[in-house]
Amino acid sequence: MKVTVSRKAHFNAAHRLYRKDWSDEKNNSVFGKCSNPHFHGHNYELIVHVTGNIDPETGYVMDMKNLKNLIKLEVEDKLDHKNLNQEVPEFYNKIPTAENIVVFIFNALRPNLNSEHQLSITLYETPRNFVSYSG
Ligand code: NI
Repeated sequence: MKVTVSRKAHFNAAHRLYRKDWSDEKNNSVFGKCSNPHFHGHNYELIVHVTGNIDPETGYVMDMKNLKNLIKLEVEDKLDHKNLNQEVPEFYNKIPTAENIVVFIFNALRPNLNSEHQLSITLYETPRNFVSYSG
């Protein structure tokens, strides 16, 4: 019997969507406001879903305190109040779109979870735009 437990978290971060090998004009036509050379911020919200069997001893799928601490260490400490393009090595040469950020978050959490657990991440860049990744 599989149950999904979920934890919400958030971080604020700045980014700019652009390609160095494109002109400002082309970047602006593809990425719009998100290509502003002066960067801009988003209030990112994420939901981390972990699916697994209920441990008969504890009645938990996993201890939510551990999940909370893991998200703080692997996501919030790495991304919160950062300029993603300039301060997060993953994005020095990769465009920090919501798509690439959700994969980064998945890859940061995955090795720290029980291998029998399934992981799925939903990342909101705005209240209406969100992406999901399950590996
Ligand atoms: Ni943006």
